Amino acid sequence: MSIHELKNTAQRLMDEGKGLLAMDESLGTCNKRFKALGIPQTEEYRRKYRELIVTTPNLEDFISGTILFEETIYQKTDAGVPFLTVLKEKGIIPGIKVDQGTVPLAGFPNEKITEGLDGLRGRLASYYEMGLRFAKWRSVINIDAESPTRVGIKANASTLARYAALCQEAGIVPIVEPEVLMDGDHTLQKCAAVTQDVLKEVFNALYDQQVSLGGMILKPNMVLPGIDCADQEDSEAIAEKTISSFLKVVPAAVGGVAFLSGGQPFMLASERLNVMQLRFGQIMPWPLTFSFSRAIQEPALEMWKGEDRNKEVAQMELYHRAKCNSAARNGTYSVEMEKIKSV
Ligand code: 13P
Repeated sequence: MSIHELKNTAQRLMDEGKGLLAMDESLGTCNKRFKALGIPQTEEYRRKYRELIVTTPNLEDFISGTILFEETIYQKTDAGVPFLTVLKEKGIIPGIKVDQGTVPLAGFPNEKITEGLDGLRGRLASYYEMGLRFAKWRSVINIDAESPTRVGIKANASTLARYAALCQEAGIVPIVEPEVLMDGDHTLQKCAAVTQDVLKEVFNALYDQQVSLGGMILKPNMVLPGIDCADQEDSEAIAEKTISSFLKVVPAAVGGVAFLSGGQPFMLASERLNVMQLRFGQIMPWPLTFSFSRAIQEPALEMWKGEDRNKEVAQMELYHRAKCNSAARNGTYSVEMEKIKSV
């Protein structure tokens, strides 16, 4: 492993004006989204959809890296060009989701633990050979009356750190994603307290397991009130709570911070990131950007509907969301931008 190579990859992923596009939905998640729109849930349709994404003209203007699902890294365009080659030619760094999903944590049925460490060292070595330069592992933290427990937080933190150490050993930048879910009626304040607690444990574990912070990227949730909370605070309050939480517990040495969207309405995700940059851009020690799946893809998928004739308009939609999020990453997003769509 070369620390220099890891830091260089992390820096390129956090390039100014750019962010990451997560297109690593598991078979179950991707099929669920297809089903809701009446799109056939087959490997061929998943391939078509992923081809639509990676071949979107000029996507590289706003996207530094894409997170792929295992199935996708072996797939090709209609013309027979491997997706990995398409991305390489655009200068977009390919990455891969390496966790294998969540299961109930034994003894703590309300909590989840993520699987996928077995055999990971071997898988990472082959991914590096194929040209993949970063990876992602998602842990899930649920807020309810009993959760999360100390055991749940620690088990997930330790697993994230094991994964991150293995990635760095293989020359792959780990994206460390401890997602505190939006589900529930908890307040913004409660989400802030849980997010800080989780991040503190995660960074303790990363430190213990000698993970180089400059050679990793944190993929956190924004600090938000639960979706069923009566008090839905505005973007100013959310930006303030999110950044003040991170300033307390995210070390300055971290290579970058790239948000998941977590099911927020896509325009709100752009607006909130924008406010964070405007209000706190000058005082944040780490670059801050997006690593969205739904908040970039949602309108494009709805437009495509599995029909070849809709491909171009869907690509325009995808390009548009990438552009809006890129502007938010620079603090120059406005709702006016939503009215002008062009490739
Ligand atoms: P969302 O942006 O839809 O929350 O997805 C993030 C992610 O990590 C997908 O793999």
